[in-house]
Amino acid sequence: MKPGGPWWQFALAAGMLAIAADMARAQAGVPAEPAALYSEHCVACHGEQRLGGMGPALLPESLQRVKPAEAGAVIGKGRAATQMPGFADKLSAEQIAALSKWIYTPVTPAPTWNEAQIRASRTEVDGAAALPARPVWKADPMNVFLVVEGGDHHVSVVDGDRFEVIHRFASRFALHGGPKFSPDGRFVYFGSRDGWITKYDLWNGPWWPRCAPG
Ligand code: HEC
Repeated sequence: MKPGGPWWQFALAAGMLAIAADMARAQAGVPAEPAALYSEHCVACHGEQRLGGMGPALLPESLQRVKPAEAGAVIGKGRAATQMPGFADKLSAEQIAALSKWIYTPVTPAPTWNEAQIRASRTEVDGAAALPARPVWKADPMNVFLVVEGGDHHVSVVDGDRFEVIHRFASRFALHGGPKFSPDGRFVYFGSRDGWITKYDLWNGPWWPRCAPG
């Protein structure tokens, strides 16, 4: 371009330089903002403000037991036999690294979760209150125990005399802290890493009344 050419030649050249710079950046794999990547690829399952939905919450608190390297591997390869897809074909290694770092940072502004919202989130199976207050199965209620299968998010109710599984049911994502029982042994409460508390009626399986107060 000759110096002193018309103004639009300068403008055009400057525009083309900007496009070239953008392309160079994309090719070098410079990660886009992790927040933008999250909105595009993850929000549908992991929720607004990373509070979880179909997939678990992705917050520093909920990821305490997951090492960042493992989180990166999960984002790249997905988790076998779960709904978590791998993103290695859509995202660069840098983008995956940026995302796996970002999910360990607090959400700003901090999400609010108050008592009214907790109450509103509570659901209960219809007719739960009318279920009989005695076990529908034959085993000794004092010798029934639970096996929590962390890997595939299931719980088995086992007859401790015969070592037979009375029921096996899907739990919420990643139970932790150990199940807590009501004094009569009828109800069991589970905390799960996706932020729910679930109450099961052990005596009335398979009609599991379930309520999840936050
Ligand atoms: C189609 C739904 C879906 C999409 C889209 C999705 N995830 Fe997931 N993700 C899941 C599910 C379901 C799990 C739980 C898998 C299991 O049972 O272990 C999960 C698990 C994870 C975990 C492990 C969490 C833990 O506590 O063990 C991470 C980290 C993660 N996802 C990050 C992401 C990121 C980052 C994206 C976007 C790039 C994404 N996910 C997109 C459904 C999804």
